Amino acid sequence: YTADYVRNFSIIAHIDHGKSTLADRLLEITKTIEKKSGNKQVLDKLKVERERGITVKAQTASMFYTYKDKKYLLNLIDTPGHVDFSYEVSRSLAACQGAILLVDSSQGIQAQTVANFYLAFGEGLAIVPVLNKVDLPGADPAKVAAQLETTFELDTADILSISAKSNLRVDEVLPAVIEQIPPPDGNPQAPLKILLFDSWYDSYVGVVCLVRVVDGSLAAGDYIVSSHSGAKYEVAEVGIMYPEQTRTTSLQAGQVGYIFCNMKAISEAFVGDTFFRHRHPVDPLPGFIPAKSMVFSGIFPVDPNDYSRLDESIEKLTLNDSSVTVQKETSNALGQGWRLGFLGTLHMDVFRQRLEEEYNARVIVTQPTVPYRIVTYPDAETAANQEAQRLEGSTSGEMASASASALASAAADDSNVKVKQVRTPSDFPDSKELRMVYEEPVVSATLIFPQEYLGAMLEHCNSHRSENQEYTFIDETRVMLRCTLPTAEIVNDFYEQLKSKSSGFASFDYEEAGYVVSDLVKLNVLLNGKPVDALACILHRSQLERVGRDIALKLRKVIKRQLFEVAIQTVVGSRVIARESVSAARKDVTAKCYGGDATRKMKLLAKQKEGKKRMKMVGNVELPQEAFLSVIKQ
Ligand code: GTP
Repeated sequence: YTADYVRNFSIIAHIDHGKSTLADRLLEITKTIEKKSGNKQVLDKLKVERERGITVKAQTASMFYTYKDKKYLLNLIDTPGHVDFSYEVSRSLAACQGAILLVDSSQGIQAQTVANFYLAFGEGLAIVPVLNKVDLPGADPAKVAAQLETTFELDTADILSISAKSNLRVDEVLPAVIEQIPPPDGNPQAPLKILLFDSWYDSYVGVVCLVRVVDGSLAAGDYIVSSHSGAKYEVAEVGIMYPEQTRTTSLQAGQVGYIFCNMKAISEAFVGDTFFRHRHPVDPLPGFIPAKSMVFSGIFPVDPNDYSRLDESIEKLTLNDSSVTVQKETSNALGQGWRLGFLGTLHMDVFRQRLEEEYNARVIVTQPTVPYRIVTYPDAETAANQEAQRLEGSTSGEMASASASALASAAADDSNVKVKQVRTPSDFPDSKELRMVYEEPVVSATLIFPQEYLGAMLEHCNSHRSENQEYTFIDETRVMLRCTLPTAEIVNDFYEQLKSKSSGFASFDYEEAGYVVSDLVKLNVLLNGKPVDALACILHRSQLERVGRDIALKLRKVIKRQLFEVAIQTVVGSRVIARESVSAARKDVTAKCYGGDATRKMKLLAKQKEGKKRMKMVGNVELPQEAFLSVIKQ
């Protein structure tokens, strides 16, 4: 296949707008998969993905399609729809020349439609807009086409209106892809240049690399070298995903396919790496900016005896998900565990679910923490100046977060200034030194909703410390609101609340936007005077009273009566914010068995022992697992 007859494309869409359904239809039309009734969603391979109906890891499938008597090789590179995985989206797009922008014609443009459009547009891709779900009674394709014109300045004169589900006009999609998306511009005669854009570990064949051959051609037996590490590999097999791995004799410039080259560990497959032919180096392609962790959580085994088994499971899971960062952590209440970093809370949930389902692990996940920063200046005066300067900027509303992060990185370059990242409340000081300035990460958020919810949405954002609010109308009835929000505000239930306050109509997306100075404090939880590290959290000073009271109350409800009184306190330094207590009770479960029946007594004791396993001890206080969960749900 010469590059002229190749098309590399993605389908980008808001969640649930029908991307996987359309992908299945295209694979059926091209007879890549057999046509059967129902939605198969071939591309969504992971169990969690099928269950939750979301795509997590990008997949790829090649198809053959005859158009105007010419046979084309079409490579469909799937992209995840959820914001947590926008890193996966951008690297998938790097292998494409164009994208189908799929929009549900009953819902119109949503927040991820906007975010994904800009990602694709930024990569310089050709955009083919397609309206889906025209079979629905509420579908209004003309209105949605108008939204696309106003919001993205797309020409919608010949826009396709389809129903992926009822197979209506889906046959017009691939001709549009061929006509409107340019072929890859690689040169098969030029020196070999390969972009590695995805990889995973397969227990049968080892490391599988998904590559785009930019220039030259590649076959089994070739020797290739990584620009990143300098390591040399012999290519054992090349092929295309059709939709499973299907061996071919070569991969040509412009093609997308897989290679096996006897890599031992997934860490050798550095996503964004450029490979070249041994002894024929080329300039490497620009790599990808590595994924950054947005939230960190402690993960601990429910039963400490599971530690080493869990350690293995975490290692296996992270083998295929290099965006999770792993560090060991020890807690006084929960024992040995890990501090894991995730791209977002959905990513964290998916990871926990996979750990539980695929590896049968039982874990306690602690309150998520965003990565805060402590900047230490050479003297108190400089620190105070920095703080005043930036806080002033933020109150006048002019503080663009970009300039704040520019200031912060200028500070980081100064060797007298120390910047420390804090991933767990245990690393946060109880009292602030005068030379220190605290900073928290922020995101720039996009919300889209019908105009009658404008008041509620503005209030929702305000109650989550938003700044720089700006809104525009994308048509007569729908509003797009942009603002800056502290990342910490969106990691709990921001999204769930947003959905309920807008009767499910609002959509939400965000991207990282650097750091801002913030008045942060650490809230400790004491049980009978002893701190429980896994319950500590970092808060903005304005939230202290509310959260402090709330945590104490919730703990009072879940802590069972014990043989002595349990005092619950939430404190900042030595200042008590709230105090509750659980009064003493004599807890003799065998008292009612008046001596006689020994087996009954044994059974009761065994039952109690079983219950104890699920308890965590802090000093002499028994703390049930729910304590950790109930505090998370604030
Ligand atoms: P993610 O993979 O999570 O991003 O979702 P998706 O965009 O792939 O959506 P998916 O294909 O899973 O479709 C979401 C829902 O919409 C499913 O219940 C589909 O059956 C339904 N759906 C897809 N296309 C159509 C359509 O043309 N008409 C109607 N009525 N429903 C559709």
